Amino acid sequence: MTLSYTRTTNPSPVSPAEREQILANPGFGTHMTDHMVTATWRVDEGWTGAELAPYGDITISPAASVLHYAQEIFEGLKAYRHEDGSVWTFRPEKNGERLIASARRMALPELPVDDFVESLKVLVEADEAWVPAFGDGEKSLYLRPFMYGSAAFLGLRPSSEVKYSVIASPAASIFTGGPKPVTLWVAENFARAGAGGTGAAKCGGNYASALAGQIEGAQNGCDQAVFLDSATHTYVDELGGMNVFFVMKDGTLVTPELTGTILPGITRMSVLELAHEFDLTPVERKVEIAEWKDGVASGEILEVFACGTAAIITPIGELRWAGGGSAPSTAGESGGEVTRGLRERLLSMQQGRSEDTYGWMTRLV
Ligand code: PLP
Ligand code: COI
Repeated sequence: MTLSYTRTTNPSPVSPAEREQILANPGFGTHMTDHMVTATWRVDEGWTGAELAPYGDITISPAASVLHYAQEIFEGLKAYRHEDGSVWTFRPEKNGERLIASARRMALPELPVDDFVESLKVLVEADEAWVPAFGDGEKSLYLRPFMYGSAAFLGLRPSSEVKYSVIASPAASIFTGGPKPVTLWVAENFARAGAGGTGAAKCGGNYASALAGQIEGAQNGCDQAVFLDSATHTYVDELGGMNVFFVMKDGTLVTPELTGTILPGITRMSVLELAHEFDLTPVERKVEIAEWKDGVASGEILEVFACGTAAIITPIGELRWAGGGSAPSTAGESGGEVTRGLRERLLSMQQGRSEDTYGWMTRLV
């Protein structure tokens, strides 16, 4: 472990009454907890100055490299309250490993995985009261670690100073109204990532580049956009913040293979590992957008769903594109049988309602 912490308690935290009001209806990503973690890396010192401090605005030089060259990466995971009051998170070492992979791609320093996991513990210990109660629907405390170049220098080179922080925000489902099928727009005009680019890194720029497709989708009455490969506009990559799966009539559970343009989701990885519990064969391969359109129409594709930390598992309903649209590919109001089953299996393990047979949960508090 590299980091040791100084701790400053927030002298004016949100009052318990106000916190309870927020936890009753947290939305997603709107309310922040009372504390944050920060550490600094300098090229000649490595990681130093880890602290737990009151949540608050940060001061940054207008010349900081993140503001000009977007040298920034982040992670997303959730803390869940179990029935005995303990607080757990899901496969955090995988997020730590992904943060390292993202850092390598974006020329940022590596934070060791055990320091990453410890930073989550430090924050959640301080803000434990913000973790929603066991049995309170799908609520959790969303944890957002992030890292950015903070050195004031306008030349183009890796930042000589970098900040790492973790903030937390109580969360209900990212989609209002629970797991209703979402309508997707095929973003044919906008690619999210290209070959050799940063698609497999969790860097802020990927999300900025997805917004135009998202807006076009919203203008066409869709909840989310799905992005295709940038070279041929033929193959399905992923959504702006979720991976995609297809339940096929032939008993396979198919997801687009990782080509370097897709974020390797921890939920995606877990769903592939859970497939056998549903008598499905997991398959990672290229999926043509034409196969999606035709497969739904022909009945070869039984269910389609999106998955990710924020989204959990969300059924995908109608697919729309310029000049066309498919019939809903997911039966019923809350998705098909496999979609619902996988969602409940994952969620019940995360919430401590079913046995953690894979050793995926890590205790935070
Ligand atoms: N794809 C993108 C672009 C994402 O932002 C996310 C969310 O983190 C995912 C996929 C799903 O990843 P995970 O399951 O690790 O949350
Ligand atoms: C997550 O699921 O953790 C994400 O990062 C998605 C985000 C864009 C809300």
